[in-house]
Amino acid sequence: MNFLRRLHFDLWYLGNPPWDSGVTPPEVFEFIQSHPAGRALDIGCGTGTNVVALVNAGWQAAGFDFSPRAIRIAKRKIKRAGAQAELFTDDATRMKKVKGQFDLALDIGCFHGIPNKADYLNHLKRVLAPNGFWLMYGFLAAADSAAPPSVTPADLKLISEQNLALVSRRDGFDGRERPSAWFLYRKI
Ligand SMILES: C[S@@+](CC[C@H](N)C(=O)[O-])C[C@H]1O[C@@H](n2cnc3c(N)ncnc32)[C@H](O)[C@@H]1O
Repeated sequence: MNFLRRLHFDLWYLGNPPWDSGVTPPEVFEFIQSHPAGRALDIGCGTGTNVVALVNAGWQAAGFDFSPRAIRIAKRKIKRAGAQAELFTDDATRMKKVKGQFDLALDIGCFHGIPNKADYLNHLKRVLAPNGFWLMYGFLAAADSAAPPSVTPADLKLISEQNLALVSRRDGFDGRERPSAWFLYRKI
């Protein structure tokens, strides 16, 4: 299952996947401008656009993705930007290569597609520093379906059972009018 998902994403990166706009969302800038720079981890970082933005804002950033092709592109992007960041392939439900703890875990569009979100959350708790933030963007489940990728009411309940406190939630729609939201959680 995971192998097929990884292959699916890796193939997307042969071309220009629709999410890979090269633009860091304003919600990310808002966060980094209102919090002191520290260590950041971009989970499912894709081609590294947001890792570059974090480094440029003074953060010590790392990013991983389970698509080797995405990571190859991300490494080139970081090099071109003259920035330094740790980039590696890893699986968000294992985070085997993630060392140490982070003040910010950023997730734009990865968590919502994860089949086993409990595994992801267990590792998230491990890699977040005390009081560390998890800034996550995901599609929301439609009222009549919980088909992935989506953050479902059951996922929100699961998150609420972790030692993560909801700081803010901003609902909206993506470019295709799909309901989506930005969530900011803090480890307690
Ligand atoms: C919608 S894309 C968003 C990429 C990037 N965050 C961005 O904003 O451009 C989701 C990313 O999550 C990655 N991904 C999905 N499941 C993953 C997993 N289990 N472990 C690591 N990366 C994963 C995909 O390869 C893809 O790059």
